[in-house]
Amino acid sequence: MTVTQTTTHHVVRVMRFDRVQRAAHWANAALFGALMFTAIPLYFGSFFGVVLPRHLIEQIHLWCGLALPIPIIVSLLGPWGRGMRRDVRRVNAWTRQEIRWLQTRGRSPLEADKFNPGQKLNAIFIGAVILIMLVTGSMLQWFRFFSVSLRQGATFVHDAFAFAIFAVVIGHITMAITHRDALRSIFKGWVSEQWAAVHASRWLKETRDGDGSPDAR
Ligand code: HEM
Repeated sequence: MTVTQTTTHHVVRVMRFDRVQRAAHWANAALFGALMFTAIPLYFGSFFGVVLPRHLIEQIHLWCGLALPIPIIVSLLGPWGRGMRRDVRRVNAWTRQEIRWLQTRGRSPLEADKFNPGQKLNAIFIGAVILIMLVTGSMLQWFRFFSVSLRQGATFVHDAFAFAIFAVVIGHITMAITHRDALRSIFKGWVSEQWAAVHASRWLKETRDGDGSPDAR
């Protein structure tokens, strides 16, 4: 695990995201931002031409859409993807306590992993919609190869998930700006040990039990 602990002004820092993970997050966020921005005039045709001409909007949407899986794939491959691959495994591993926590909407006890169950669900949703939007978006682009009913189905799924994406992304940004320590970790990489003890106690324990690599700077 790429956990680094450093002490600065009595704050013990615990590494949460390496550079590759942060770069992948922001590249993914930029592509989602561009896709959502261009989706508005694509859905509400009357917005065409307000900021950019129609053809340009369609081209930005298509090319950002086709590029969408690239940051995630690149960040998972090769020796630089170790942290990312470990986090994917974490997101896929669920304890009974985590499921119970979700069922009780956060009212049951939780010894939280690096990501709480809400964050894990968010990551699973984003991974799934990248695939769903890529497949349905490609069907909208290369429609000649598909029957009318398949095209209608693809349009319905693309639109329905577009609404869900807006809801989830707005929720994600709201959580991020109201949880400053977690937000800092996606900019600078680290959280305070104090924060981890409260919000990610199981993960912190694992890093202390030798899974991490304490490295005083
Ligand atoms: C954040 C992800 C995305 C959102 C929110 C989104 C949203 C939308 C919306 C709302 C429309 C309008 C559909 C309609 O007219 O009913 C649209 C059209 C389209 N989308 Fe996406 N989309 C996303 C990702 C993608 C991806 C990954 C592709 C990949 C190829 C793609 C390709 C297309 C194409 C080709 C169209 C048709 C554009 C046209 O009318 O010329 N989209 N999208």
